[in-house]
Amino acid sequence: MNVLAICGSLRSVSINRMLLHAAIRLSPPDMEIVMFPDIGKLPSYNPDLEHCVPVQVAKFRTQVADSQALLIASPEYAHGVTGSLKNALDWLVSFEPFANKPVALLNASPRARHSDAALREILKTMSAELVESASISVRLLSSSLTEDEIANHPEISIAIASALFELQAIASHRILR
Ligand SMILES: Cc1cc2nc3c(=O)[nH]c(=O)nc-3n(C[C@H](O)[C@H](O)[C@H](O)COP(=O)(O)O)c2cc1C
Repeated sequence: MNVLAICGSLRSVSINRMLLHAAIRLSPPDMEIVMFPDIGKLPSYNPDLEHCVPVQVAKFRTQVADSQALLIASPEYAHGVTGSLKNALDWLVSFEPFANKPVALLNASPRARHSDAALREILKTMSAELVESASISVRLLSSSLTEDEIANHPEISIAIASALFELQAIASHRILR
């Protein structure tokens, strides 16, 4: 099963990207999680371009279509979803293969509840299948844990591995439907 990981932060030392990299290391044997390289390279959404989307968008859409599920981790900016993540999602609004795609949210900061709620509302509006049992909140912000330490942390690693197991169960059930 292919899963596309999307990080809502463009920071080079993003804690959300570290969380996604730890998830890659903890993924079950039948799941391959691929990190989308950089949503910051996607041009600003413009409906006028829908008839001939820019090449970066076409590649992004292909990766989304080829994935059985998405894994998103993003910080909260000013109580909202980061502009980069919202822009990436806007490119998927009218992209039919996105509809009903299972999506799990990894939240690196339990205090970021506004963006978490906003992201859920956006995904629901876009007809994604939000997998609640695979969506978790872990207190990483200001923990200064490294990717290695996240992947080896006794409780956090189990929470991530369990979330991925749930995502795999839901997404494979959907493939069989
Ligand atoms: C412009 C900006 C706005 C932010 N707004 C919020 C906020 O509203 N709520 C919050 O909990 N954290 C806020 N933060 C803190 C970020 O969520 C925090 O730095 C997070 O770790 C960044 O994630 P990253 O390490 O993946 O880049 C803000 C940070 C920045 C740079």
